[in-house]
Amino acid sequence: MSEKAILQLEENSYELPVVIGTEAEKAIDISKLRDVSGYITLDSGYKNTGAVQSAITFLDGEKGILKYRGYSIEELAEKSTFIEVAYLLVYGNLPNKDQLNAFLYQISRHTLIHEDMKKFFDGFPSKSHPMGQLSSLVCSLSAFYPESLHPHPTVEELDLTIIKLLAKMTTIVSWIYKKSLGHPIIYPQNKLNYVANFLNMTFGQRTEEVLIDPVVVSAMDKLLILHADHEQNCSTSTVRIVGSSECNLYSSVSAGISALWGPLHGGANQAVIEMLEQIKIGGGSAEKWINKAKDKNDPFRLMGFGHRVYKNFDPRAKIIKKACDDVLTKLGVNDPILEMAKNLEELALNDSYFVERKLYPNVDFYSGIIYRALGFPTDMFPVLFALGRLPGWIAQWKEMREQKEPIGRPRQVYIGHTDRTYVPIAVR
Ligand code: SDX
Repeated sequence: MSEKAILQLEENSYELPVVIGTEAEKAIDISKLRDVSGYITLDSGYKNTGAVQSAITFLDGEKGILKYRGYSIEELAEKSTFIEVAYLLVYGNLPNKDQLNAFLYQISRHTLIHEDMKKFFDGFPSKSHPMGQLSSLVCSLSAFYPESLHPHPTVEELDLTIIKLLAKMTTIVSWIYKKSLGHPIIYPQNKLNYVANFLNMTFGQRTEEVLIDPVVVSAMDKLLILHADHEQNCSTSTVRIVGSSECNLYSSVSAGISALWGPLHGGANQAVIEMLEQIKIGGGSAEKWINKAKDKNDPFRLMGFGHRVYKNFDPRAKIIKKACDDVLTKLGVNDPILEMAKNLEELALNDSYFVERKLYPNVDFYSGIIYRALGFPTDMFPVLFALGRLPGWIAQWKEMREQKEPIGRPRQVYIGHTDRTYVPIAVR
């Protein structure tokens, strides 16, 4: 394989280094391009531009492959737990028994949040979107734990900041939900495991069976694993670029939460259910909505369909679709929305518009159906995505710092006015 690329510009030709990754991905290193040629590259949406060399997650969009630190998503979803996957993503290897127990013990000691944070919860309008609350509350952790602001923390200091964020996120998410209902908040019970403790703080004191139902805990654990990381997506790239200014972890993750909120990204799981509800209210004509999605004059998109990288299938969607049937059956939930989703998928997968554009169900298409069956309201779905994505954001931020990445600052091509002279307002 050639180690160099040759770029011909006007009468000059330039040799540019080629980078080949461990999974044979290839890239042209243009870091010196402007110095040697005066040119930059342009790539709206970074569809063809690699920002980093990363060792955390590998995707193959054509083959529908997703691996965390070399382990396939199928194996991890089947055999691992979310907190074990969190350790794998952040520290690079699956923990042994002692490492996992120490990790769990540390997390269990930091699940409480400062009592003064309750004032933030009380200040939000009761129906304000949970993602806006989550972004604000996570950023406010930097106020309560100022040691996290140190731009060059020791390994021990950073480990503690990471532990606190993983631990307190479950408390913050569950308290946002309880406040939205006007329910009393429920404090962490550290004898419960990470996911069971989260479900207890969220659904506790309502129906005992929710807390001990292993089906619910297992379904939640699997969903969190499937959302844990996804290489350089919009919100992760946000976390990395905010962190590249030496901004603290809490504020960097807060920015990632805001990016994830968008309906084109993590907000899609909420938009999918709202779309399916609209189809149901409108008489369930899936064909009408498929045609709307294909109509260039209609801003409507088939939410939960399409992906920047996956051009065959999203392996997470396959796992979640199977889990849907499993979980709803075990919980005795008969949700007509599931059949509508399957019908919509069937129609789209046999429609040339979607086939030509390689649009398939993504992680958000079926996940909301399970969240609904577990008892979550629709506007909490993006928050659950953020809870799952947290270890990925942490791992990517940590890698960026360890690799001493420079502050992110893309260039541009200016297309505005050239020289103009100021004239007084009287003559404008
Ligand atoms: C996530 O990047 C990640 O890894 C993200 C994520 C993660 O884990 O972090 O996987 C999570 O964000 C999943 C995606 C959730 N979003 C949605 O489900 C929203 C609906 N999907 C789209 O808006 C869209 O598919 C994107 C945003 C996901 C991807 O958009 P791209 O890669 O910029 O593709 P595009 O907009 O250029 O679309 C290419 C063509 C266009 O048609 P033409 O102009 O070529 O005629 O496909 C069409 C688009 O109009 N198209 C759709 C469509 N998605 C793309 N048409 C109808 N419905 C859709 N959903």
